[in-house]
Amino acid sequence: MATKLWRDVNAMYQIYPRSFMDSNGDGIGDLPGISQKLEYLKKLGVDGFWLSPVYASPQADCGYDVTDYLQIDSMFGSMHDMEALIERAHALDLKIMMDYVANHTSDQHAWFKQARLSKDNQYRDYYVWRDAKDDGSEPTNWISLAGGKAWTFDDATGQYYLHSFMPSQPDLNWDNPRVREEMCDVLRFWLDKGIDGFRVDAEWPISKIYEDDLFQEGCQDKPDEYGSYLHNRCKNGPNLLTYMKQMNDVMGEYDNRYMIFEYYTEKELGDEVQQYADIFAIDPEHSAPFVFDMFRLEWHAEQRASRMAELYARISTDSRPIHALGNHDQSRIVSQFGEKQARALAVAQMTLPGMPMIYYGEEIGMRDFEIPRDARRDNFQEGGGMGGRDPERTPMQWSNAMNAGFSTAEPWLPIAQDYEDHNVELELHDLSSFLSLYRSLFQMRQHYPVLRNGTYLPLNVGNGYIWAYRIYDVNDSFDVVINFADQPQVVNVTAGRAVISSETVRPSNLADGQLTLAPFEALLLKSAGTAS
Ligand code: GLC
Repeated sequence: MATKLWRDVNAMYQIYPRSFMDSNGDGIGDLPGISQKLEYLKKLGVDGFWLSPVYASPQADCGYDVTDYLQIDSMFGSMHDMEALIERAHALDLKIMMDYVANHTSDQHAWFKQARLSKDNQYRDYYVWRDAKDDGSEPTNWISLAGGKAWTFDDATGQYYLHSFMPSQPDLNWDNPRVREEMCDVLRFWLDKGIDGFRVDAEWPISKIYEDDLFQEGCQDKPDEYGSYLHNRCKNGPNLLTYMKQMNDVMGEYDNRYMIFEYYTEKELGDEVQQYADIFAIDPEHSAPFVFDMFRLEWHAEQRASRMAELYARISTDSRPIHALGNHDQSRIVSQFGEKQARALAVAQMTLPGMPMIYYGEEIGMRDFEIPRDARRDNFQEGGGMGGRDPERTPMQWSNAMNAGFSTAEPWLPIAQDYEDHNVELELHDLSSFLSLYRSLFQMRQHYPVLRNGTYLPLNVGNGYIWAYRIYDVNDSFDVVINFADQPQVVNVTAGRAVISSETVRPSNLADGQLTLAPFEALLLKSAGTAS
């Protein structure tokens, strides 16, 4: 176990194992590769990392289709490599979290192989089976997030099974207490090995509403499109929070462990802040949801200001929002909004109370890379709920050596073409680089606990292009002002010291008065009168 308490954690980092570092020259990242790069994470200033799944898997969804939760996929190494990685991380006092694929297994998992043998198999009820409608069609109109229908007919036993994602990812039946117990034992297995916590994958469909006659989702105009449906039955069911609490409670059986829930709020379900707040309320000591607003909200100062004000007002002071600018399912932040905008959002992410999660490569300004059709790997359908995710999964850009220093062999996904301009080695020596900005932000958070645990106070600077807020505690106070306009903006600030700008090196002392922010600039100001 890493010793730092979770409430003192500065920041965490997401490693996509396939793309981080290849140690054995097969073009795919692996566990020993990650071990080699832990010093980098330590120097960067994060306190740990989360690994996307490394469990045994046929890799139909890059590991989010598990055949054995208690084994490591040989593509990434062995159990011995995993144990060595845990040990190495802990020797550096870095936390290590695993991904926990809760909603489904692979169809190659022993439970599913058993379940599909016969209707009375003891594992049948580990999954969700239903009879066809009278006309032979699917039991409901539900659509999968991977594209296509959410039901597949199983010829051998004559029923449909449910899959919120691909047909090869059958949904587990969390309403079955045996499933919940088995899945909690998976957590215990890894916690016993010293894992510090989990990122919980796609838990929103683990509770569904089956018992009403309709069993249908409201659908607008396009029956083939995920976005056309209401989704108030196929996910976010009445037992969701109870089941999440059950997972969370396993953390409490151990010392200093934590869980981060992947959760996407839904406009169509009403009050989105309340959806977050309900998850924060589960148990702030042991878990929190990701807050994905940074990349989901429009590029709009007032919208962001009001969302954050509402969020911080409605969660308890010990809640720790996990702000993320991206992950392996989302277009990279630079590609979504632009370079300056991404730098400004990094300042916001790292000055908001809570725990930032940095997606690998974000710290060097990596962007989406359009993958030629014949090199694509994502099996989710493009145009479905989630498909087309290769561009944000390209290998980490370590240097301008061959294959960006990631591998000696041809990588599993092409290296982004701009790697000679954006790589770790280059950016370490460039004060104006993304990496330098990130490193100074990490240092600030490390030095000033207020930036991790302070109170959020919205500031009204009377300009609709500016999102401004104060973070304070009894010792310190910082103001953050972010210009969302592509034109300079003049704002009034109180006296202080400009400590970090997303754009320029600022003169350090500012008197009360007016300040001009460059287009898309974010500025962090330390208020006068507080300790330096
Ligand atoms: C989560 C993962 C995504 C995966 C899906 C199914 O959203 O982040 O990569 O495909 O769940 O497990």
